[in-house]
Amino acid sequence: MSSLLVRGGRSLSGEVEISGAKNAVLPILAGTVLSAGENTIHSVPKLRDVEVMKEVLRTLGAEVKESEDALTISSNLVDSCEIPEYLMKKMRATVFLMGPLLGRFNKVSISQPGGCSIGPRPIDLHLKGLRALGVEFTQKEDCLEGKTDKLVGADIHLDFPSVGATENIMMAAVKAEGKSVIRNAAKEPEIIDLQNFLNGMGAQVRGAGTDIIKIKGVEKLNSIDYTVIPDRIETGTFMVAAAITNGEILLNNVIPEHVDSVIAKLLETGVEVEYNQDQIKVIGTPEIESIDIKTLPYPGFPTDMQPQFMALLSIAQGNSVITESIFENRFKHADELRRMGADIRVESRSAIIQGIDKLSAATVEASDLRAGAALVLAGLVAEGETEVKNIYHIDRGYENLEEKITNLGGQITRLAD
Ligand code: UD1
Repeated sequence: MSSLLVRGGRSLSGEVEISGAKNAVLPILAGTVLSAGENTIHSVPKLRDVEVMKEVLRTLGAEVKESEDALTISSNLVDSCEIPEYLMKKMRATVFLMGPLLGRFNKVSISQPGGCSIGPRPIDLHLKGLRALGVEFTQKEDCLEGKTDKLVGADIHLDFPSVGATENIMMAAVKAEGKSVIRNAAKEPEIIDLQNFLNGMGAQVRGAGTDIIKIKGVEKLNSIDYTVIPDRIETGTFMVAAAITNGEILLNNVIPEHVDSVIAKLLETGVEVEYNQDQIKVIGTPEIESIDIKTLPYPGFPTDMQPQFMALLSIAQGNSVITESIFENRFKHADELRRMGADIRVESRSAIIQGIDKLSAATVEASDLRAGAALVLAGLVAEGETEVKNIYHIDRGYENLEEKITNLGGQITRLAD
């Protein structure tokens, strides 16, 4: 398996271009299945997760053509509602096909990874919402089949503002008969992007970005040409790269209001942040102040930025506490950062970080996408050469990471298998 070699000690400075948002493009690509036409999506990042989504769309019968940063999907050719097990196992985001396939064909079949109840991250809220729209689910060995004679609008209250459940329900409800309301909906910017995309196809969705989304079902959706929003987590990751290396980075193609909570926390650490409509400049400081963070649904501090901030706070002055309230088991990177000398104690859902002067290089493993990013950031400031293994996780969500870091003056190389 490939790994990344990161040599620490250089301040990162210069400009970086932020790519299209992974978490926006995945549901949008799935959503192209709703129209029986040719759809072009721009600003599509070249990521492993996008590759899997393309493979899923092709397996369903769609033709997917690539040009520069765009994908053109001929969804009229889709003739299957079955997502094979090996693709489900490759990426959880394949569940986003449930809503669109139900919306277009009134049926879907997905497999359950490992035979457990759809993996460690459940989809009960997705199923509850889809059931409310009239879908009946039956379990057949490792397969979960959903079907309905027709989708009918419903009033749905989510027990938790799940991003994926909100998106899946939206994509089915746009084709349901009558009106639907999703209450306690997720408010993430990716939900607004999905609403804009769906409305561009002729859907009638409003309220995204608030906790009540109202949808009036339509019979048919048209083709669309759509550009996805910039990636707010990649944005946050490069902001932390400037902070952790005491550098100065200008980030282009960003939406500053999407990273309000990240800006607020960086300012608390003593780092300088300036921004205009679509650029952010982060200017580091030699002494990072310790801070406390609690992850929350948007507009709270994103769980997807928690590992990167843990790396930063490892070299802060004093004691910081990070509380993870979205995922139960999202502190695996703490063990790896400890290998690099970090002083981190995990107690239940909190990590207590006692800042140290210097991290030291080690061989570490990325346990997931953002944990991998955190280890690369730690490597950029550690003494010596850090090897980050299992980087296929990083390739899931960061486009051209090495190139972008190298252009900013960082030293990072990929070791092939
Ligand atoms: C999305 C993001 C992911 C981010 C997460 C939280 C994508 C592709 N991924 O994931 O990067 O970390 O939001 O911001 O957009 N839950 C249930 N039942 C469900 C669904 C979720 O209990 O049916 C729980 C999950 O286990 C988790 C919490 O709700 O503890 C949040 O999950 P959710 O908001 O659904 O995250 P994802 O959509 O999977």
